[in-house]
Amino acid sequence: MPAFFKNKVVVVTGASRGIGQAVALAFAREGAHLVLAARSVDRLALVEQEVRRLGAEALSVPTDVTSPDAVAALVDAATSRFGRIDVLVNNAGIGKVGDVESATFTDDLHQTLRASLFGMISVTQRVLPVFRAQGSGAIVNMSSVMGRKAFARFGSYAIVMHGVSAFSDSLRQEVAGGNIQVSAIHPALTATDLLREVDEAEMPPPFRHMTPLSSDAVGRAVVAAVRHRRRRVVLPRMANMLLLGEALSPRIGDLIATALTHRPIAAALGMSRGQTYHQTISTTLRPARQSR
Ligand SMILES: NC(=O)c1ccc[n+]([C@@H]2O[C@H](COP(=O)([O-])OP(=O)(O)OC[C@H]3O[C@@H](n4cnc5c(N)ncnc54)[C@H](OP(=O)(O)O)[C@@H]3O)[C@@H](O)[C@H]2O)c1
Repeated sequence: MPAFFKNKVVVVTGASRGIGQAVALAFAREGAHLVLAARSVDRLALVEQEVRRLGAEALSVPTDVTSPDAVAALVDAATSRFGRIDVLVNNAGIGKVGDVESATFTDDLHQTLRASLFGMISVTQRVLPVFRAQGSGAIVNMSSVMGRKAFARFGSYAIVMHGVSAFSDSLRQEVAGGNIQVSAIHPALTATDLLREVDEAEMPPPFRHMTPLSSDAVGRAVVAAVRHRRRRVVLPRMANMLLLGEALSPRIGDLIATALTHRPIAAALGMSRGQTYHQTISTTLRPARQSR
C-alpha cells in the first residue's frame, strides 16, 4: 500500500453518497483514517462499513454543514478521536436547475449558497486553527466546471460554484507559505443523485446528452490533487477547452457551450459517449431516498 496517506486523517463532508462517498473510499484505499460527515445517518453508516472493509478506521459524525454548532461538533469529534486532521475535503452541496426568471430562482440560490458555500466556509474556518497549530494541512474544495463557466438554466448553481472558486483562490494565497495547501476541483457532469429529480428535458442544454463522469474518477482525482499539491483540477481535461475559450472571450465560451448541445460535436470531443446522465444513474445508482 502506498505510504503517502497511511494513517493520515481525512475529513470528508457530503460523504453519505455520490462524490463524497467515492472520495472517502479512495482515501481509505490509500490507508487513511476517515471522518465522514453528512445529514443521513443510515447512509453514513453504510459508507463507514465500506471504509472499514477496506481496512481503514472510520468515524461517522452526522452533520448539517449549515449549522455552526454541528460543524464545531464535527471538528471536535475528529480531533478527539484522531488527535489531528490532515486533509479536509469540502464536498457537501446541493444543485438546483431553473431559469433566472423562474419564481424559485432566488430561493434556489439562497439554499445553494447556504449548503454549498457558507457550509464550506464554516467548516474551513473551524479546521484552519487545527492546521495552523499542527503546521500543516490540505483543503480540497469541490467546485465544478460551472465554477468557471455558467450554463443556461444553471445560474443559481453556477453563481455558487464561482463563489467556491473565488473562496479557494483567495484562501490559497492567504495561507501560502504556511504548509497549508488548497486545491479546487472542477468536475463536469458526474453520475450522482445531484440532478436526479430534474426532468431530462429541463436539464441545462449541454447536459442533455452528455455522458457523466464516474464519481470514482472524481474521487481518484481528489487524492491525486492532494498528493501532487495541485491548485486546480478540471475533469475531464477536455473541459479545459471550454474554460480556455471563455477566458479568451465570452463569445467563444458561449459558442463552445452551444456546440456541446449538438450530440455529434459533443461525441467528437468525447463528452457524449452513449449513455446520458439519467440513463447512467438509472442503471448504476440506487435512488438516495430509498436507501436512507
Ligand atoms: N454531480 C455532478 O455533476 C457534480 C459536478 C461537479 C461538482 N459537483 C459537486 O460535488 C459535490 C457533491 O455532489 P454529488 O454530485 O456527489 O451529489 P449528491 O450525490 O447529491 O451528494 C451530495 C452530498 O452532500 C451532502 N449534503 C448536502 N447538503 C448538506 C448539508 N447541509 N450538510 C451536510 N451534508 C450535506 C449529502 O448528504 P446528506 O443529504 O446525507 O446530508 C450528500 O452526501 C457538490 O458540492 C456538487 O456541487 C457535482
